[in-house]
Amino acid sequence: MGLMDKHAIIEKNATLLLVGSLLVVTVGGIVEIAPLFYLDNTIEKVEGMRPYSPLELAGRNIYVREGCYLCHSQMIRPFRDEVERYGHYSLAAESMYDHPFQWGSKRTGPDLARVGNRYSNEWHVQHLMDPRSVVPESIMPRYAFLKDAPIEVKDFSTHLVANARVGVPYSDEMIAHANADLMVQADPNADASGVEKRYPKAEVGDLDGNPQQVTEMDALVAYLQMLGTLVDFKTYDDAAGYR
Ligand code: HEC
Repeated sequence: MGLMDKHAIIEKNATLLLVGSLLVVTVGGIVEIAPLFYLDNTIEKVEGMRPYSPLELAGRNIYVREGCYLCHSQMIRPFRDEVERYGHYSLAAESMYDHPFQWGSKRTGPDLARVGNRYSNEWHVQHLMDPRSVVPESIMPRYAFLKDAPIEVKDFSTHLVANARVGVPYSDEMIAHANADLMVQADPNADASGVEKRYPKAEVGDLDGNPQQVTEMDALVAYLQMLGTLVDFKTYDDAAGYR
């Protein structure tokens, strides 16, 4: 009796087939899942990643509140057309401090994972105030009210503490300076060296064109301008021949 004939026995007996299938799935499952319990971290560490600055985190909260993710993804897939349009494909480590992550599944507008530094602060403000004034065919809604909305938080350090509880490495120093850093990052008259030391590459200065007040517009622009800028991909891209 050949192997194929023996297989016929299983195929003709539903109970035996079920038991056999369960056995295969169980073994396969254990092989795949068990190692995860012995690993400290499944995300490869990447140089340059840091927690969001308080102002960026506030901007990110506004991004979530306004539902920007309903039209914008933040994940560049590893396909040639995406990489040529948006830049290096997204790494898992790049969203490791996102709670919740903003990968998204809908692209009414373009992916924003690497929009940071692509436009000036003025362009972002103009675009958010009135998208059609810079992109005539745009269907994006206006968010002009953000420029009139002062950042209002009693104690922003609680946001950092909440993120720290789920694993974001905010230090005691970062938490202690949270309220001051939130304001200083967008204040052109303040000394921002502390913010720049704690949060390298953060966009500092008057971001929304109104130096008198720190607004939700400042926060959103600070967030947009850092997206995808933390990891230096030049060495990766040269090696892979992307650019
Ligand atoms: C109804 C869908 C929709 C929503 C909601 C939306 N956008 Fe857009 N967005 C678009 C479209 C379409 C474009 C492309 C045309 C343009 O540039 O305006 C775009 C473009 C952009 C761009 C320029 C991207 C690039 O690479 O050129 C940015 C930045 C942006 N949106 C940010 C935001 C932010 C921040 C929010 C939330 C406050 C938001 N969008 C909400 C549809 C949307």
